[in-house]
Amino acid sequence: MTVTFREAALGDGLAIWEVVRDTGVLDVNSTYCYHLLSHYFGSTTVVALDGDRVIGFVSGYITPKDPSVAFLWQIGFLPSYQGQGLGGRLLDYWRSLPALSAVSALQTTISPENTASQGLFRSWSAKRGFGITCQPFLSAAHFGSASHEPEDLYIIETGIL
Ligand SMILES: CC(C)(COP(=O)(O)OP(=O)(O)OC[C@H]1O[C@@H](n2cnc3c(N)ncnc32)[C@H](O)[C@@H]1OP(=O)(O)O)[C@@H](O)C(=O)NCCC(=O)NCCS
Repeated sequence: MTVTFREAALGDGLAIWEVVRDTGVLDVNSTYCYHLLSHYFGSTTVVALDGDRVIGFVSGYITPKDPSVAFLWQIGFLPSYQGQGLGGRLLDYWRSLPALSAVSALQTTISPENTASQGLFRSWSAKRGFGITCQPFLSAAHFGSASHEPEDLYIIETGIL
């Protein structure tokens, strides 16, 4: 299996939505949302491909409040591609994007139940010597009747690479 990575572009939105749906874990937003993401945030969103099939992705953006921070929104692979080290490779590719060249810190949110995602970010940070901290961010109360797990904010200090 040869997996490649590239920046997202208009046309990837539906395939990203399908990956999100098939993880069974990620919040499934509208296809329209993923089309906008692919087009307008394509320089900070990456798709992972097996041949020409999208099998994973990571989405994010440079925060308007602070251009030295990149927020990583969602990351996921189709179930049959999980647990093979692709997550770390995808994070490496994403962190090296030209659009992130002035970034010194990454932020993402993870629910306390999502041990796979916590494992990915902690392991990735530890192997590269990046500091990682975690603090409360969104409580269940923030989601009200929408009923959603809390989300903790993880901050990874990468420095400017
Ligand atoms: C989270 C996800 C992107 C990780 O990608 P992956 O390719 O499966 O992860 P990797 O194989 O690169 O593993 C990275 C590290 O995470 C750890 N990890 C992976 N799955 C794990 C699990 N279920 N429980 C605990 N740790 C886990 C591994 O031990 C590995 O650490 P190591 O390199 O020190 O061995 C992937 O599992 C996924 O798509 N999950 C469903 C969607 C999701 O939860 N997205 C994140 C929401 S914030």
